[in-house]
Amino acid sequence: MIEVGAVSRIRIVGIGCHPGQLTAEAREAIAACDYVIAADKGSGDGPDDPLLALRRAVCADLGVELVAVPDPPRDRDDPADYDGAVLDWHDARAAAYGSLIASRPGTVGFLVWGDPAFYDSTIRVVDRLDLPYDVLPGVSALSLLAARHRIVLHEVGRPVLVTTGRRLHGEVAAGHDNLVVMLDGGLQAASLPGAWDIWWGANLGSPHEELVAGRLGDVVDDVRAARRRAKDADGWVMDTYLLRRR
Ligand SMILES: C[S@@+](CC[C@H](N)C(=O)[O-])C[C@H]1O[C@@H](n2cnc3c(N)ncnc32)[C@H](O)[C@@H]1O
Repeated sequence: MIEVGAVSRIRIVGIGCHPGQLTAEAREAIAACDYVIAADKGSGDGPDDPLLALRRAVCADLGVELVAVPDPPRDRDDPADYDGAVLDWHDARAAAYGSLIASRPGTVGFLVWGDPAFYDSTIRVVDRLDLPYDVLPGVSALSLLAARHRIVLHEVGRPVLVTTGRRLHGEVAAGHDNLVVMLDGGLQAASLPGAWDIWWGANLGSPHEELVAGRLGDVVDDVRAARRRAKDADGWVMDTYLLRRR
């Protein structure tokens, strides 16, 4: 636990995948913040951090200052102790945010892409600070994928497993046959054994979003081409897909 003292409170706000998806509740919460902190991940994917730029646009629209904090480096090269590396990274982020908040007490917002409940570390990082906080949900890429394809993510009364590209093959080997995959820059589904249907989407919510659906073996090249188009058009690409065994 990191002591940052004084009278600060934190609001973790899901902003959806596009400024147009900000809920009324989220807008009200952001507008009432003294300032917003955003991680600046630098340029892994291009000359600027495009998702930081979107957060800036939201704050500018609502008249709230955004303070960008350089993201501490993370050991991404397949560290032997993956979980330990993630915890160290969370600690480093918490330390950076804690010292900023200690110097600027007040109501501080964190804007989280999509919904803070899915594959985002903000709640875990903020929880390390000795401060009250609340969480407001946003429209996740998961919800957007289902809506765009006009599907339910699971069959009647059946489960859906949400996982990452890194774990996909292990989860399928364990018997899962209805999975949503996030954080997969390498289309791990392409090398899965067996017959699958895929409902895939990239840059959902952006003007250049791409959708592909069909039998995985038939559409895998379409997915790769659509992924390249999205990246060329927006300068960044994030994709999410549902896989269901045929
Ligand atoms: C760090 S996670 C954040 C998820 C986010 N909290 C949410 O609720 O959507 C990033 C992953 O979310 C998915 N994602 C986020 N935004 C997306 C978008 N606009 N279109 C498609 N997938 C997206 C991708 O799988 C990406 O690798």
